[in-house]
Amino acid sequence: MSMVKILNVVGARPNFMKMAPIIAAIGRRSDEVSQTLVHTGQHYDEAMSSVFFGDLRMPKPDISLETRSGTPTGQMARIMPLFEEILIARQPDWVIVVGDVNSTLACALVASRLNVRIAHVEAGLRSFDRAMPEEINRLLTDQLADLLLTPSADADANLLREGVPIERIARVGNVMIDTLFQQLERARNSTVLDELELRPREFAALTLHRPANVDDPESLGRILYAIGAIARELPVIFPAHPRTQARMREFGLNAPAGVRVIAPLGYLDFLQLWSNARLALTDSGGLQEETTALGVPCLTLRESTERPITIEQGSNRLVGSDPARIVGAAREILSGGVSYAARAPELWDGHAADRIVEALIARSNHIGQKYSHRATEPRRQEKKETEGQRDQRNGETER
Ligand code: UD1
Repeated sequence: MSMVKILNVVGARPNFMKMAPIIAAIGRRSDEVSQTLVHTGQHYDEAMSSVFFGDLRMPKPDISLETRSGTPTGQMARIMPLFEEILIARQPDWVIVVGDVNSTLACALVASRLNVRIAHVEAGLRSFDRAMPEEINRLLTDQLADLLLTPSADADANLLREGVPIERIARVGNVMIDTLFQQLERARNSTVLDELELRPREFAALTLHRPANVDDPESLGRILYAIGAIARELPVIFPAHPRTQARMREFGLNAPAGVRVIAPLGYLDFLQLWSNARLALTDSGGLQEETTALGVPCLTLRESTERPITIEQGSNRLVGSDPARIVGAAREILSGGVSYAARAPELWDGHAADRIVEALIARSNHIGQKYSHRATEPRRQEKKETEGQRDQRNGETER
């Protein structure tokens, strides 16, 4: 078999910790697979992007697109023609996209137009809330992908329900947990707790950046009010996303007493911070999973989650943006009424990235043939299944 050529895409903060172990796993198979890393520039600050390359020991991107901020649509529109040029020049066999950020969808769309195979890591997650831009990005990227690499059984069931052929789905586990396990020991060397004069389990950690929470003055005000009540019981450390800091300034909202707003942290400092927190409060997706893996009680400031496994098997609880619910749930945890053990749902075992590379190689056997007429060949047609076969298949997965 000839070398399989892979082009990896990262763009925004939550992509880096998912891509790092994949790059390392591909590196372990460098006799069979070659790789290129493209950064779309969706996130560009030192604190939102550069710091992660050092922390996660990732190679610098081979190609960086200077797309910068602007409206999300404008940014995607700038990414697409630049990414198209790269694909035409590099002719990869696969594009790997991860997660659900705007870069993920923009690059998947370009790859599909050029008939380049797409592997989507973290496929199949659904919040069923189409007001979230990430939900649209997830739905559309999964429709475009040729290989859907899922973290958990609920994701497989979502994809099958949407009509994704079963041969395209490979359950590989949670790649972000690969990074968590790999970096935990290094994170213990972080001096962030000393710098902030904090003792383990004597503080809460907060992150907040969803448009639904921070772009509306009323909901941001309600959440900050609730956090203020919690901060009367223990200090709350708030590494604030640039978007949230900007909105607080714009709406004239100050952090309540006891809430310490700090700049966004790199991976290792952040891991050291929240893994020692008594309580995590967040509207992030990834943090719900990371707190599950470590048994840190997590209150998610949203009404829905695309990661239900963190509620069924982990320490996560949805509390929305209503102060009474947020403060009530926090008090239950702080009074010692609730405690959680670290949980590792099936395949959250630190080896997801190796399974991803294995799945890619296994599906690359006929790549030379498929692309020998790349310009003219129509996109691969899946074998049509009968209704009977489909019912049987869905019935099987739902058991
Ligand atoms: C994006 C992802 C979200 C992820 C979050 C993590 C989408 C739809 N959303 O949201 O899923 O949880 O990243 O951070 O892709 N900004 C800077 N510097 C940066 C990056 C952003 O100042 O390096 C500011 C800019 O004003 C920018 C704003 O943050 O316009 C929003 O950035 P954007 O990438 O649009 O979305 P996020 O809210 O970061």
